[in-house]
Amino acid sequence: MILELKNISVRFSSGHNVQAVEDVNLNVAWQDKVAVVGETGSGKSILLLAILHLLPENAIVTGQALFDGIDLLTLKRRELDKIRGARISYVPQGSGNGMNPLYNVGFQVAEPMIEHQHVPKKEGFAKAVELMRRFHMGNEEKLARQYPHTYSGGMRQRALIAMGIGAGAEMLLADEPTKGLDERRIALVVESFKLLADKTILCVTHDLNFAGTISNYICVMYAAMQVEYARTEDILKNPLHPYTRDMLAAMPENGLNFNKGFAMSHEDYEGAGCKYAKRCSDCFERCMEAPPLFNIGGRQVRCWKYAGDDGNDQMKEVAGRVYTDPRSDKEI
Ligand SMILES: Nc1ncnc2c1ncn2[C@@H]1O[C@H](COP(=O)(O)OP(=O)(O)OP(=O)(O)O)[C@@H](O)[C@H]1O
Ligand SMILES: [Mg+2]
Repeated sequence: MILELKNISVRFSSGHNVQAVEDVNLNVAWQDKVAVVGETGSGKSILLLAILHLLPENAIVTGQALFDGIDLLTLKRRELDKIRGARISYVPQGSGNGMNPLYNVGFQVAEPMIEHQHVPKKEGFAKAVELMRRFHMGNEEKLARQYPHTYSGGMRQRALIAMGIGAGAEMLLADEPTKGLDERRIALVVESFKLLADKTILCVTHDLNFAGTISNYICVMYAAMQVEYARTEDILKNPLHPYTRDMLAAMPENGLNFNKGFAMSHEDYEGAGCKYAKRCSDCFERCMEAPPLFNIGGRQVRCWKYAGDDGNDQMKEVAGRVYTDPRSDKEI
């Protein structure tokens, strides 16, 4: 595993004491492409920022974020700086927000190489042009000398991805790389991701079609919690959690069947039980208690429907099989 998130929770101590992320557990294998999906405010961006140790002081982060066995949450700033940018790169939410308007794009793409690999500036710039060529940006020599404001959103996004992997990072964390882009530009971002087959990617997105195209695993977040984590085709074809099912039904190609769960306010989340209970058509008595994360067939789902018939937290055998975790071959 390149990344193991264990019981990651984030609470903001000031203001309304917001629980932004609650008990996220993810195992990400080398070269996995994981999409994190969920509605606005469900904690997706905060999860990425927590992993990278980039949250403000009033954020209380608990749990472990093991990157290649090293807990990022306990590292000192200097040690973290050796990993961030060099081994893990981050493309923040908002295409182009991660770019400095005062420097040309070529220099910015080269910067992580200059900083982490001590490549001389001129050589770095030439390597940036090469990288941009790899992403088929077109007329790369000229583009590299231009400033970010002259780029379209899709081009900035591609330059940011190139910049992210420039210093040889093994893992890319990307936040909403397709937000605000039209279909043609989304296709360019998809193409860029396809060029990163040898990298591990954790990508936050609202766009389920994009998630389906670029990922092999999907983590579904709802109200700060991870409600399901499974192979992409399993999530899309056979969702287990009622929220995942309702979210898919609400896609335009599936008939825009909106469940009332899509217009949530923070008060709705209150109470000890399952956070989706009030909106869930499968809700039953037990849902007044908070469900744990059940492991079923190598997938994880936070829903009492999958508890053992005796009411214990032993998971059910679904479809009569004994399930194993495909990554460890361990029987669960
Ligand atoms: N600095 C902060 N202080 C207090 N609460 C915060 C802070 N930043 C974020 N939050 C809250 O944390 C929760 C999760 O926010 P987050 O930005 O992760 O959502 P998201 O899933 O990325 O949404 P979107 O899809 O709109 O980007 C939200 O309820 C948000 O209001
Ligand atoms: Mg966000």
